[in-house]
Amino acid sequence: MGKQRVLSGIQPTGDLHLGNYLGAIRNWVEIQRDYDSFLFMADLHAMTVPHDPAALAESTYKVAATYLACGIDLDCATIFVQSHVPAHTDLSWLLTCITPLNWLYDMVQYREKAIKQGENVGAGLLCYPVLQAADILLYEPDKVPVGEDQKQHLELTRDIAARLNYQFGKENQPILKLPDPMIRKEGARVMSLTDGTRKMSKSDPSELSRINLLDSPEEIQHKIKRCKTDPIRGLTFDDPERPECNNLLTLYTILSNQTKEAVAEECREMGWGQFKPLLTETAIAALKPIQDKYHAIMADKGYLESVLRQGREQAEAIANVTLAKVKSALGYSTPL
Ligand code: ADP
Ligand code: TRP
Repeated sequence: MGKQRVLSGIQPTGDLHLGNYLGAIRNWVEIQRDYDSFLFMADLHAMTVPHDPAALAESTYKVAATYLACGIDLDCATIFVQSHVPAHTDLSWLLTCITPLNWLYDMVQYREKAIKQGENVGAGLLCYPVLQAADILLYEPDKVPVGEDQKQHLELTRDIAARLNYQFGKENQPILKLPDPMIRKEGARVMSLTDGTRKMSKSDPSELSRINLLDSPEEIQHKIKRCKTDPIRGLTFDDPERPECNNLLTLYTILSNQTKEAVAEECREMGWGQFKPLLTETAIAALKPIQDKYHAIMADKGYLESVLRQGREQAEAIANVTLAKVKSALGYSTPL
């Protein structure tokens, strides 16, 4: 039997941060030997919020270089750009037509982002989870490794696939395969440095709220120095009254590759004045090899282009077969 397939993607909007790394990319690297991986830059999703045309293509390349710098291996993985594979938008339209509107209004991310956009909410923001469903279903993956915040979108993806199968499939012959989410506990929800109850996000207006993967040692030091803490001495995990403390200890645990028990013991009696320099040093050391590799890859555009060209070919070979299957089930004629 062949390997199972995984698929995931990140929007190329803004710089990638520790949440993207620990919640998503690091997990892709860890499992890549056991799966056939399809990883893409979700550039069509970038337009669901106001975007900068002058920066989009470059940001897309940067995310691809970041995947490689974090350790994605092309012997196990295909890296491609969403907009290079037209089947994504084709399938998205077909799925849009069978998706009840109220399913989309229920999406938490839509509601949160719609509030931020005020009266100017584009239909794309509402329909974006359908595009995401198309991104996933085209590749018939077994698992979709993402952070906790994407769970609802994956449930919607399964619901849409099940509805299409029910309405247009034959019994015992589903058209689309229902994928399972793959959400690791540790790192699944990295919180903001300025508010331990909100997730670290590219769209947070405050740069101090996140550590970007490409931050310089000085920036990392500055952000950790300024991050929110509490006046209590002795650091502990899982205290609901101390969300910042839990978040910073968790970051330290993952970045220093230690167990939670070891860190709980090490930091039990520490004060922030002792812990912050430790976390700073650990974060700088963990990011340094990624940054070095990233800059080397970005300096060789030709290489990156060849990776994406090959990625597109491999992605299309699979996506087009699924699209044809769905179109045929929906009664579309084949092009002559
Ligand atoms: P952002 O929310 O910063 O715009 P994306 O929505 O592009 O990031 O997320 C890309 C991937 O990174 C998804 O798999 C998402 O679950 C994961 N991710 C984003 N933010 C976090 C976070 N704070 N903690 C854990 N995972 C995250
Ligand atoms: N919506 C995801 C996010 O904001 C990005 C994404 C788009 C994605 N298509 C996907 C993730 C398909 C997993 C699978 O993070």
